[in-house]
Amino acid sequence: MVLILLLQRCIQLLILPVYLLSYLGLWDPLCKKIFPYIMAKCSTQYNRKLFQQKQDLFSSLREFAGPSGELRLLEIGTGTGTNFQFYPPGCRVTCTDPNPNFERFLLKGVTESSHLQFERFVVASGEDLRPVADSSMDVVVCTLVLCSVRSIEQVLKEILRVLRLGGALYFLEHVAADHSSWGYFWQQVYYPSWKLVFDGCYLTRETWKNLEQTNFSEIKLRHIHVPLYWTPVQPHIIGYAIK
Ligand SMILES: C[S@@+](CC[C@H](N)C(=O)[O-])C[C@H]1O[C@@H](n2cnc3c(N)ncnc32)[C@H](O)[C@@H]1O
Repeated sequence: MVLILLLQRCIQLLILPVYLLSYLGLWDPLCKKIFPYIMAKCSTQYNRKLFQQKQDLFSSLREFAGPSGELRLLEIGTGTGTNFQFYPPGCRVTCTDPNPNFERFLLKGVTESSHLQFERFVVASGEDLRPVADSSMDVVVCTLVLCSVRSIEQVLKEILRVLRLGGALYFLEHVAADHSSWGYFWQQVYYPSWKLVFDGCYLTRETWKNLEQTNFSEIKLRHIHVPLYWTPVQPHIIGYAIK
């Protein structure tokens, strides 16, 4: 524990200017502006590493289409739109993100995804999806988002509200490592600075527990290890949960 605190302080010293900006109340608005650029850079490499897993995961999306064959999909925390390429042709996509600075990156993704039918972009957090009607979605997608939300319980409650009966939540999230591993040790070391630099991202969430405690009728969930070397975000969960 003492060693973890010591190493945490060392990293905090290394990024002292960020802590100073945060203390002055300047970091949060700046982070909201630069985070979309960071995501645009990182997500290309991330998608390359996870291409097969994402392709396998999203290959079953069509099974959740309504009786007319139409698939209404809501993506929460869409970011730059890295998942669009995996959605089936004709899919009707509604995007949400609380950070409006993602919109211009998202528009690029929209332009490049002519196989999809985009409905709208809503600036909203996952905790409050009021612009989306009850039972109006066949599928909700959430990738690398539950690590950053204020309340996972409230987001999952909102997801259940907007999903129709028999609809599904598709997820892919980085999570806490095994508590007896070095991975978990480093997650604890990085945690405070990582959260500050990466727009509120928690490294040690056991998100699978929240999913298991929510009122889904069926959950298909796998723990996977993503070889993102030298980063504390290698353990992931992937799967879908049916309402
Ligand atoms: C690491 S990025 C992931 C973006 C995208 N889903 C992907 O897989 O590339 C995290 C995203 O979650 C969004 N986010 C942060 N807090 C959120 C919240 N409370 N509700 C919904 N989205 C949130 C951020 O604005 C950002 O777009």
